[in-house]
This record gives sequence, structure tokens and C-alpha cells, in this order.
Amino acid sequence: MNQIKLAFIGCGSHSSACLQPNIAHIPQIEFVATCDLDEEKARSCARRFGALAAYADYREMLAKENLDAVGICGPAQMHTEVGIACLDAGLHVFLEKPHAVSVEESARVCQAAERNGKFGMVATMWRHAKAYTIAKDLMGSDDFGHPILFEGYYLTPGPRQPLWGLDSLRWSHLLGQTVHPVDCMRFLMGDVTEVYAKIHERSDGVLSYAPHFQFTSGAVGTLCVTSGAAAIDMQTLVAGDKGMAVEVTNMIHVRCVRSPAWVGQGGYRDYPTHEWDAGSYYLGHARHGYIEELTHFADSILKNEQPRASLVDAHEGLRICRAIIDSDAQGAPVTL
Ligand SMILES: NC(=O)c1ccc[n+]([C@@H]2O[C@H](COP(=O)([O-])OP(=O)(O)OC[C@H]3O[C@@H](n4cnc5c(N)ncnc54)[C@H](O)[C@@H]3O)[C@@H](O)[C@H]2O)c1
Repeated sequence: MNQIKLAFIGCGSHSSACLQPNIAHIPQIEFVATCDLDEEKARSCARRFGALAAYADYREMLAKENLDAVGICGPAQMHTEVGIACLDAGLHVFLEKPHAVSVEESARVCQAAERNGKFGMVATMWRHAKAYTIAKDLMGSDDFGHPILFEGYYLTPGPRQPLWGLDSLRWSHLLGQTVHPVDCMRFLMGDVTEVYAKIHERSDGVLSYAPHFQFTSGAVGTLCVTSGAAAIDMQTLVAGDKGMAVEVTNMIHVRCVRSPAWVGQGGYRDYPTHEWDAGSYYLGHARHGYIEELTHFADSILKNEQPRASLVDAHEGLRICRAIIDSDAQGAPVTL
């Protein structure tokens, strides 16, 4: 098998603008069909992105088409419900985030993958962007050592109202936005053991929070998030115990602080950085990581390997997000 047979369920804005346009660039995918409750959206995506058939009912599509996997991109609850149905139908699933609206619902999706022996992946794409694969490689070098510190910020313009019929604005923001930096943080730093958070929620829907984390290794970190920004902007920094630090800005720029060979002895060495920038040529659409995450999904299925972020990664991400809310409510650190 050198191609996976893939269909997309959900052809709304994200799916049609950021995910399906990538498929033409991924030869490991045979694009079999599209599906949306609004059949015209499914037909339009099939025409534009090269799928061979279009459906309004995903169950009809599963019955008629011979598929290996599905991409699912719609409202959050639909990821859980349709994701479980597709896993039970024997398919691997690529689920848009959030894959579930609660830790309990998330556990149901994980169980469905396990009982069917199928792979699930969740579309937290930061970790797939080239800048982050470079950062992770640098962290593996002898000059980096073990991670001792994480710092990040994520400025977002919303949401400033609850999403997906949920009643909590803060949970909607965590599910809709903060799952991204949280997944990225786990990718870089490993599991979180403790969370201590304060949330500032204003009556106009602007939220700001700055959780502190401790990781299994003992390393510590903090992440500043707001929904009050004019546009999306993000940065992460990790420092290692051998003196190297790696910073990634907006998934396109890597800055590595390391000991320069050309500086003599004595005193501190100021700003000795090596930098990488994604440059002007880019294959993806909208943001870095989208084409890479779908390529990784297809490659993993072809190799019969678990793609990442796995459902278990996403489940851990939701537990961390939940702990941010619980810590603020309790005014105390929450142990995971
Ligand atoms: N990873 C990212 O950077 C990123 C960015 C934007 C949005 N998203 C996520 O993408 C998801 C979709 O957001 P959107 O803005 O595209 O929403 P949207 O409302 O534009 O699209 C959702 C589509 O799903 C379809 N749908 C719903 N239930 C269905 C079903 N049972 N069968 C088939 N089709 C069904 C709807 O008809 C609609 O066309 C959200 O969960 C959001 O969190 C992710």
C-alpha cells in the first residue's frame, strides 16, 4: 500500500480553507470522497480538491466507499460522535481539535480507538510545523541537555463568547485555542504533574490566564494566554541544562541561544544566537503545520504506526486545560 484512501467529513471553513487544499500536495493520499450535511459544500470541495464523490450523509459514504481513514472537521461534539462511529466502522481517524468537549467524552474516543485497534490523531498542528521539528532536533543535541524551563505566550483575538453550545467561556477558550500551546508544550517538555493558574475574566468576554506548570522531570514553566489580542501571535522558549535555549516565534522563526565558538574567555556572552526563518516559499495553506500534519497522518497509517498528536496526547492536553480551570476555582495547585 503506498496511498491511504481518505475521505473528509465536514467541509466548512477550516476544512475547505486549511486542510483539504493540502491533499493535492500529498501523494500518499488518494482523496476518495467528501461529506457535509450541506451537500453543496461537499460537492464544491470534491470539485475543487479532487475527491471522486460527495455525500450529505457520512453513514451512506462509509457504506458505499472503500476507505482506510477519514478526516473529521466540524463542531466539537461532532468530532467525538462521528469519530467514534468511524473508529467502530474500522477506520483510522484524523480529528480536528477539540476532539471532545470534556475529559470524559475524550476518554470515550480513546476507548473506541483501543477497542477497534485503530489509530486516532488530533490536529494540534504546531508540533508539525518545520520550526518546531527544528526546535525538537536542537533539544536532542548534546549542547541542550535536559529541558529545565518552558516559557510561552499565546495571544488570540477570541473567542469572547462560549462555543459549541457550552455554557463556559473559559472552557470554550481553552478547548478552542489553548489546546494548541498545551500540546506543543507537552511535545517539548513531556508530561505535566502540577498546574497552578489564575484566570482574569472580564464582563466583555476578554480572558487572560497565566498558568504555571511542573513537569515529570521536575522542570517548570509558564504560559501566558489572552483572548484580548487584535490578532494571533505566539512564542515558546525552552532552556536546557547545558546552557542552550531554543525560541520559536509564530511557527516560522527559530532562535537558538548557544555558546559561540568564536568568543574568547571571560565574562558573559551576550546574544550569541543562531536563527532560522521559514523564508518566503511555503507549500502549506494559511498556517504552518497544516500540510505537515496531514502528511504525517498518511505516512503513519502507511507504516502502521500511531500518528501524533495521538488521542492520548489530546486527552492529556484536555486534562491540563481542565486543571487550569480547577486550579483557578480552588485557588490552589492541582496535581495531575
Ligand atoms: N487547527 C486550527 O488551527 C483550526 C482553525 C480553525 C478551526 N478549527 C476547528 O475546525 C472545526 C470546524 O470549524 P469551522 O470554522 O470550519 O466550522 P464550520 O461551521 O465552518 O464548518 C463545520 C462544517 O461541519 C459540517 N457538519 C456538521 N455536522 C456534520 C455531520 N454530522 N456530517 C457532515 N458534516 C457535518 C457543517 O455542515 C459545516 O459545514 C472546529 O472544531 C474548530 O475548532 C481548527
